[in-house]
Amino acid sequence: MAYTPLPINPRGSALKGVRGRVLTYKADPFLVDARDCYDYYEDGIVVIQDGRIINVGPGEEIVRQYPRLQDIDTYADAVIMPGFIDCHVHYVQAPMIASFGDTLLDWLNKYTFPTEAKFADRGFADDVAKVFFRQLLEQGTTTANVFSTSSAESVDAFFEESERYDTRMISGKVLMDRNVPDNLKDRSAEESVAVSERLLKKWHHRGRQLYAVIPRFAPTSTPKQLELAGKLYQRYIDQGVYMHTHLDEAENEIEWVKKLFPDQRDYTDVYKHFGLVDRRSVMAHCCIVREEEWQTLHDSGCGVAHCPCSNLFLGDGQFKMWEAKRHDRPVRVGMGTDVGGGTNFSIPRNLSEAYKVSMLQHHSIDALKAFYLATRGGAEALHLEDTVGSLAPGYEADIAVLTLQPTEFAKWRMKFADDIFEKLFVLMTLGLNDMNIATYVAGRKVYDRERDKPYMYASDFPNTKYEG
Ligand code: GUN
Ligand code: ZN
Repeated sequence: MAYTPLPINPRGSALKGVRGRVLTYKADPFLVDARDCYDYYEDGIVVIQDGRIINVGPGEEIVRQYPRLQDIDTYADAVIMPGFIDCHVHYVQAPMIASFGDTLLDWLNKYTFPTEAKFADRGFADDVAKVFFRQLLEQGTTTANVFSTSSAESVDAFFEESERYDTRMISGKVLMDRNVPDNLKDRSAEESVAVSERLLKKWHHRGRQLYAVIPRFAPTSTPKQLELAGKLYQRYIDQGVYMHTHLDEAENEIEWVKKLFPDQRDYTDVYKHFGLVDRRSVMAHCCIVREEEWQTLHDSGCGVAHCPCSNLFLGDGQFKMWEAKRHDRPVRVGMGTDVGGGTNFSIPRNLSEAYKVSMLQHHSIDALKAFYLATRGGAEALHLEDTVGSLAPGYEADIAVLTLQPTEFAKWRMKFADDIFEKLFVLMTLGLNDMNIATYVAGRKVYDRERDKPYMYASDFPNTKYEG
């Protein structure tokens, strides 16, 4: 597709180029013919100014159009693609990732809640936020929809670290006023929602940060808290505030919800009853979903986070991709790592598990579909598809660079893969941890595996001016 480039801003920053194989999506390959879904340039370039992409296309042709484009990072044998989008992850669970598994509810009580209670301590929260961001950037993830926990400290620590990198992130205070230990439990529904609103006013649209109203899941909120959370969400939905929660993850969880909310038709209806199901709602898991619920998720424009590593680890249910993507009522689906239920921070590794979960249902997810889910699909689930998740003029310049030679063996194996999607399928299926070699956030290379200082904050970069 021929894009209309953005004009150069003569008073803006110096131009930056990222050159190599470039892959980007413009439509959903689960719904639209494959040829109309993506652009791929064997020698492509992304041109960036002021943190935004101003042009994308064939390398030689575009370089000729920009005589002032001097600063170009060139990658051989790598794929330049939009930064990955993690639609559901708990940063506060990084300290307990890979704790011995059990069913969801036992695992929450035994490992998760005691860890989250530690986040009342701001120093602890700061330390974990720092580690978490490094993990994300190392894996090429540039946007995430993130659970903190009930303490305001956990929210401030998260957003402050995000501001240092200038990443586009979504988070908020987790609301939970019952069925959790006292040291995590909100003192009252009213107070908890007031704290959430205070944090919303502080963080929503501050730089690239976005706020979500986050009832943990129906069983850990009283009806009063869900009601007030729904009202808060509805008051701010037109300003782009999100609602983020868990839905239909495991059998025993669904049974529990039925007992706690006997008047509602199903789990989705519980959230809907309280005004929590709407066009900026993101539901994690959705493994065991009734047809009426899919219809509601479609009608409301909700996003769904598919978290296969976590679902397999906790023995939940199997996400039904082909139900979610039924053509007469498709649902927006992105990928989630769900750390610490998930066992790693890598979106490509989750793609490999998504493939296997799908194969158990006799459907396959090829690399074309998989990397759509990792990028533009995630942006669609978060209603950010005009902002991030694609490499095109006007988009924020968040980029991952995947090497096609992560190991000697992978390099050898690639010789037998023909086109780019065969190579990407090998990459995701081998599931190696070091496939991402560089990550750009708003045009700055904040992670570079080869650099002496692999991680850099936005303030570590000089402000260079355009000289036309
Ligand atoms: N449901 C409610 N809380 C959680 C959580 O922390 N992790 C997962 N996987 N499911 C949940
Ligand atoms: Zn979760």
